[in-house]
Amino acid sequence: MNVIELDSISRTFGLGNGATTALREVSLTVPKGEFLVIMGPSGSGKSSLLNIVGLLDQPDDGEYKLNGRDVAFLSQRKRAKIRRNHIGFIFQNFNLIGRMTVLENVSLPLLYKGVSTVKRYERASEILKYLGIQEKEYYQPNQLSGGQLQRAAIARAMVNRPSIVLADEPTGNLDTKATKLIMAALKEIHEAGNTIIMVTHNPDLAAYGDRVIKMLDGKIEEELTGASLKKELTAQRKEAAEVVDAAKNRAIEPQKKAKKAVRKKTAVKAVKKSAPKKKGAKK
Ligand SMILES: Nc1ncnc2c1ncn2[C@@H]1O[C@H](COP(=O)(O)OP(=O)(O)OP(=O)(O)O)[C@@H](O)[C@H]1O
Ligand SMILES: [Mg+2]
Repeated sequence: MNVIELDSISRTFGLGNGATTALREVSLTVPKGEFLVIMGPSGSGKSSLLNIVGLLDQPDDGEYKLNGRDVAFLSQRKRAKIRRNHIGFIFQNFNLIGRMTVLENVSLPLLYKGVSTVKRYERASEILKYLGIQEKEYYQPNQLSGGQLQRAAIARAMVNRPSIVLADEPTGNLDTKATKLIMAALKEIHEAGNTIIMVTHNPDLAAYGDRVIKMLDGKIEEELTGASLKKELTAQRKEAAEVVDAAKNRAIEPQKKAKKAVRKKTAVKAVKKSAPKKKGAKK
C-alpha cells in the first residue's frame, strides 16, 4: 500500500519578478514502511517538498493522496488533525517553543491527542532518557546547546509514535555519538513498520535509506536503489573527501608561503645587521 502519492505537485513562492518556483510538477510514490532519503543541493526544493508531504504547506497545483485520501486542499483544521495523529516532524530549525520546558515541548503532541498530564510527562521523559538528555527536561530551549536542542526536537517528533516521520537534516548539528543515537532511533521506528522520509547531505546517513531521490531545481532528477545506490554513495564519499583534501591544501599553502616570507624578511634583517658599515656611512 502507498502511504504517500504525489502527482505533478508544483509550488511557487512570491509573485512576478520576485517569484521562486520551489517545486516543478513533482510526482512521488512512497510505499508504507519505506525509508526514503532526499538529497540535493541547497535550494533544490527538499524542505518545500517535505512541508507539503507533512501538510504544513499546500501546493499551487497537483494532487496529493495520504493513505489513499485526497489531502492537497483540505481545510487548515483537518490538516492539523491528520498531522497530529500520523506525522512526526524533525525540522531543520527545531521549532521548539521558547516559554516551555523541554519536557513540556516534547509532551505537546500528546496534549493535542488528549493524553493525561501524568502519562504525557512519563512518556516524554522516557524518550528524553532514550536520547540522552533527560537531565535537561526542566530547562528551556534557550538554555540548551544546538545538539541538545536537536535531540529534544527529535524526542518531540517521536513521542506520539507517528506512522510517518519527516526529518529535515536531523543530525545536522550533532557529533558522531549523538548522530549514531538518532540514526538508531530512526532505524528502530522504521523497523517497527513506519515510514520515514529524511533529507540529508551526508552519504553515510543516506545509506540507511531503502531508496534515495536526488532533487535539482525543484524536480526529482534521479532515483537510486540497491546496487546503484551503493555505487553512488561511495562516489559521493570519495568526492567529499577530495573536496576536504583540496580545502586543506588551500588553507595550508598560503601559511607556508607566509612563513617563508617572514623567514626571508628576518634573514634580510640579520644580514643587514651583521653587514659591516660602509665607510663614511651616517650613524
Ligand atoms: N517561504 C518561502 N518564501 C519564498 N521562497 C521560498 C520559501 N521557502 C522556500 N523558498 C525558496 O524555494 C527554493 C527551495 O527552497 P527549499 O527550502 O525547499 O530548499 P532546500 O532544498 O531545502 O535547501 P537547503 O538544503 O538549503 O535546506 C529556494 O530557492 C528558496 O529560496
Ligand atoms: Mg531545507
